[in-house]
Amino acid sequence: MPAGREITIVEVGPRDGLQNENGVISTHDKVELIRLLAGAGLARIEATAFVSPRWVPQMADHDAVMRQAVRRDGLRLSALVPNEKGALAAIATGAQELAVFASASETFAMKNTNCTIAESIERFVPVLALAKANGLPVRGYVSCAVDCPYEGVIAPAAVAWVSEQLARIGCTEIAVADTIGRAAPERVDAMLRAVLDIMPVERLACHFHDTSSMALANVDVALNHGIRVFDSAAGGLGGCPYAPGAAGNLATGRLARHLSSLDYQHRIDLCLLDHAEQFARKLSAHTKRSPKFV
Ligand code: HMG
Ligand code: MG
Repeated sequence: MPAGREITIVEVGPRDGLQNENGVISTHDKVELIRLLAGAGLARIEATAFVSPRWVPQMADHDAVMRQAVRRDGLRLSALVPNEKGALAAIATGAQELAVFASASETFAMKNTNCTIAESIERFVPVLALAKANGLPVRGYVSCAVDCPYEGVIAPAAVAWVSEQLARIGCTEIAVADTIGRAAPERVDAMLRAVLDIMPVERLACHFHDTSSMALANVDVALNHGIRVFDSAAGGLGGCPYAPGAAGNLATGRLARHLSSLDYQHRIDLCLLDHAEQFARKLSAHTKRSPKFV
């Protein structure tokens, strides 16, 4: 974990960015996007999701994407997995990190994964065991960490409780997510205070969507708390199929330029990143979103 002014950007575009696109994006194009992002210096890339193709058809080619994605020293490719079945498949294709996803909202947990929060944590236990046996780190997401599209405001204590459960079962990093991107900085601040009461700042990452153009203000709040790991998606693509109203993720270029302006280091080549973001936007422009997902 970098200290001081060094920031790790976790690129989630190939997964969180593309999962919401309704049209066909070829495996070839997904693999090319990952290659361009790695070339721009992104060292952690969430490449795909080993979830049910019935639930998220856009990620149905997860096997091929992970097998064909570029490999290089210093690059870590991760896979989102909801359960043991997903973890087994992800590991078989050479995923170098797994990410499990819980929620601080019961309604969202049910809509997104068809189970309660407690059941989702139980499902992750065998995932953590598999990861440990294979020497892989596991990130744990807490979705709806500020607001839920179904339940509204989420109590900071609920986020702290889910974070603690994920840490207890062995997640090395906890990523708190403003899934619908509507959080005001004061509420992000209150949520982070609650989570930081129960875990060290080195284990925390922030995942902001930019629906209300507040993502950078929320990044600033997190920076002030000492958080140094941030998620973003090339071209600001994204949204969650089961979170109505969730617009794009914070765009990687917007995040990197903001960090540069504040004198933080991120090791991204902004010219090469521009090229990758143009490619990502082109992929998105060629597909049509389902009205259910926007
Ligand atoms: P379920 O229907 O309750 O699952 O779905 P099940 O255990 O009853 O199994 C039903 C069928 O699914 C079976 O197949 C299983 O084999 C299959 P059948 O026998 O009927 O042919 N199945 C699978 N297939 C492929 N991969 C798997 C898998 N597991 C079971 N891993 C499940 C439960 C969790 C699988 C489903 O709800 C699911 O896949 N949900 C994923 C939803 C999703 O990907 N949402 C978007 C990502 S989360 C997000 O975007 C938030 C985040 O970005 C942070 C933020 O911003 O908040 C992370
Ligand atoms: Mg997300």
